[in-house]
Amino acid sequence: MRTYKIAAIPGDGIGKEVIAAGLEALAVLAESNGEFELSIEHFDWGSDRYISQGAFMSEDGAKRLESFDAILFGAVGAPDVPDHLSLWGLRLAICQTLDQYANVRPARILPGISSPLRDATAQNLDWVIVRENTEGEYAGQGGRSHRGLPEEVATEVSLFTRNGVERIMRFAFKLAQLRPRKLLTVVTKSNAQRHGMVMWDEIAAQIAEDYPDVMWDKMLVDAMTVRMTMQPETIDTVVATNLHADILSDLAAALAGSIGIAPTANINPERTYPSMFEPIHGSAFDITGKGVANPIGTFWSLVMMLEHLGETAAAASLMQAIEQVTAEPSLHTPDLGGSATTSSVTNAVVDAIRSLVAQSQLSGV
Ligand code: IPM
Ligand code: MG
Repeated sequence: MRTYKIAAIPGDGIGKEVIAAGLEALAVLAESNGEFELSIEHFDWGSDRYISQGAFMSEDGAKRLESFDAILFGAVGAPDVPDHLSLWGLRLAICQTLDQYANVRPARILPGISSPLRDATAQNLDWVIVRENTEGEYAGQGGRSHRGLPEEVATEVSLFTRNGVERIMRFAFKLAQLRPRKLLTVVTKSNAQRHGMVMWDEIAAQIAEDYPDVMWDKMLVDAMTVRMTMQPETIDTVVATNLHADILSDLAAALAGSIGIAPTANINPERTYPSMFEPIHGSAFDITGKGVANPIGTFWSLVMMLEHLGETAAAASLMQAIEQVTAEPSLHTPDLGGSATTSSVTNAVVDAIRSLVAQSQLSGV
């Protein structure tokens, strides 16, 4: 029996609700699949801990995560804590320390979900955005001087390293190569940003030579928003800087129907460190405690986690269960215009997992 050690960090707001739902589904999946088991350790890291103890996680926090096979993360951010503190104190502290440099964000229209784009369908909107996850605009370089004075100055320096750009390009080309269309769009802004972004473009062209079967093109980030909206079918895999992909992935999630559904994987491709999986939606304090958070983003993130762990059959069953549930409008949470609750969606996914696994085991005999 394969055993996976999973670190669960629910964090803040609805993070706690969706991670509880995710772990419930995962337990049922492991039990019915019967080929692997999970050992889950919970971490109470987040804004509550910051308020009571002065730190979002324990001092050796990221180090403690190193021995796990994967990390399941909910959300961080609370109304009474400045966002830049919570982000840098927890999520970025983990991603950067564990060198999770490839952030993978699929966007696809699931059954039963409608896109705000009139003609978008599951067939013509099926993207994966690869976000550089350790440097660029989120490198943390900069500072403030002469605070409060008229001559106050603040810098926020984007940092691009050859090593950092090469490895994310290589990851994106490889991923594009694995997808049926073998099509990659490299997003840039090298018309205005003439140093980092020009190097980014040059490195893309160099890495492309190693992947001759991947068709690739280059797109300015502003024009990319137009292309995503007007010609979604021309896009497949996308690679962009930390900030550009942050923005484009929100647009992608909205065009695919709801930010409540979108998943993310923060990957350390070399597997020197564990990778971290999380829904995109954030802590959403406006709906916290109401029991209506959409758990689908967490379930889909778990699909990515299972794929990363090599549990492809379990991943496929979970994705199928998710699609069966989204296809049913009475199981849509309020973010999708419905009135379902976190627990009704979770129960439905759990039921679907049980019957799918039973079916596949029957047909396997
Ligand atoms: C995301 C989020 C974060 C980011 C926020 C919470 C700082 O928007 O994961 O896309 O910008 O990275
Ligand atoms: Mg974002």
